[in-house]
Amino acid sequence: MKRFFWTLVLPVVLILVVGGSVGAEPFGKKKRRPKPHEFGTVKLDNQSTSKGMAAVAFPHWLHRFRYTCRLCHVDLGFAMEANQTEITCEDLDNGLYCGACHDGKRAFGKKDQAGEEGAGHGPEQPVEHCDQCHSVGKKVKFENNFYTFKKGLPRGRLGNGIDWLKAEEAGLVTLEDFLEGVSIERKKLDYAKELEVLPKELQMPKILFSHVKHAVWSGCELCHPDIFGVERASMTYSMQEIFNGKYCGACHGKVAFPNEDCQRCHTEPTY
Ligand code: HEC
Ligand code: HEC
Ligand code: HEC
Ligand code: HEC
Ligand code: HEC
Ligand code: HEC
Repeated sequence: MKRFFWTLVLPVVLILVVGGSVGAEPFGKKKRRPKPHEFGTVKLDNQSTSKGMAAVAFPHWLHRFRYTCRLCHVDLGFAMEANQTEITCEDLDNGLYCGACHDGKRAFGKKDQAGEEGAGHGPEQPVEHCDQCHSVGKKVKFENNFYTFKKGLPRGRLGNGIDWLKAEEAGLVTLEDFLEGVSIERKKLDYAKELEVLPKELQMPKILFSHVKHAVWSGCELCHPDIFGVERASMTYSMQEIFNGKYCGACHGKVAFPNEDCQRCHTEPTY
């Protein structure tokens, strides 16, 4: 059976996949697999280039190292789809979206006030950080280097090349799930049940879906009720829909490990 899967099913699906949208490119170039540091970096350009600024590159790897997905996508209201959140410069000044953290205190702001940096260094000019966010197509010297960062973390096969779950379990990643002044205290919901998902094609190894592992990053609200109902098996979906960015594919392939990593989901033989 295993052989059947790898010799017959896999090539067929791969053909479907390669023809489909699996290699969805962050920057819309020719289809190629993104490099580890590019994976999960979102290009934001609702208005930037039309207003004479370079587009914004938002790196997930650096932010998911410190914060849960839930914090940004629920409490701060970022959409789960590129360029669906209309962000303006003014929003940042008002502490919204990126501005909830990039306020010059938690993280660098649009500009440091004169005197904060450069104190004692001659004329005190405010330092602008526009380029650190508006970086697409520019040579920018970033504070954080992906490959230095990645060195200390357990390796994954695809995507960022990092096994994020192991990194979190080993305490190498400490996630904040609450932002003072933004998040609202909520009751913690625990849901420990692991679910078995049987693929419609029973030659495929079945999938074990772990609520516990997912809830660490995503809480409950990132999936329920928008992506999945809480009624067991209330919805049917196919692998193709996952590849197209729906259901599990709402995260896998974009920010969580890619769908080409078949065996990481299809783990258990069905026979
Ligand atoms: C912390 C990240 C960040 C920094 C720093 C930053 N921006 Fe932006 N800016 C954004 C994001 C995100 C958007 C929305 C991007 C889009 O969809 O085009 C944006 C949008 C803009 C826009 C277009 C929207 C509008 O309101 O007109 C302009 C112009 C702009 N920024 C100018 C600046 C300037 C000038 C600086 C430096 C003084 C700066 N930004 C610094 C993140 C940043
Ligand atoms: C610091 C905030 C932050 C964190 C933490 C964060 N995201 Fe995002 N995410 C964003 C922003 C900003 C966007 C772009 C939204 C937009 O353009 O409207 C985005 C976009 C996305 C998209 C759409 C990408 C695309 O190419 O269409 C997905 C999927 C996503 N995030 C999943 C996740 C997952 C899963 C996690 C946790 C592992 C996570 N995010 C953590 C801020 C965050
Ligand atoms: C929940 C808090 C939070 C939010 C929201 C957030 N950031 Fe950040 N961001 C951080 C922190 C903390 C750092 C690390 C700052 C440092 O290294 O000094 C950072 C670093 C960065 C860097 C790396 C800069 C470098 O030189 O390495 C970029 C780029 C960036 N953020 C862009 C954005 C953009 C664009 C948004 C909004 C779309 C955003 N961030 C939203 C907290 C946040
Ligand atoms: C990453 C996505 C994801 C997250 C996060 C998530 N769930 Fe689920 N949940 C699912 C999926 C997938 C199903 C199965 C739906 C189906 O069978 O159609 C499910 C089913 C359920 C069910 C019905 C299962 C049953 O046995 O009757 C409940 C109840 C539930 N989830 C509660 C929670 C709670 C509480 C949390 C937060 C602790 C949570 N979920 C977080 C994806 C998620
Ligand atoms: C809301 C975003 C989201 C959705 C939807 C989602 N996942 Fe995940 N999943 C993650 C994140 C984040 C991780 C952590 C690993 C990573 O980021 O690469 C993860 C990890 C996993 C793992 C790895 C477990 C391990 O022990 O290594 C499996 C398997 C998995 N997901 C299966 C699924 C399946 C099956 C579905 C659909 C029923 C699904 N996921 C839906 C975000 C999501
Ligand atoms: C993020 C988790 C995940 C990954 C990665 C994944 N699958 Fe699936 N797959 C699922 C889920 C969930 C289903 C259940 C859908 C159903 O059949 O009800 C499924 C169903 C299937 C089916 C059954 C028929 C169908 O179209 O639904 C096939 C065949 C399949 N997957 C092949 C693959 C192959 C080949 C790969 C690697 C290229 C892969 N899958 C990667 C989660 C995943």
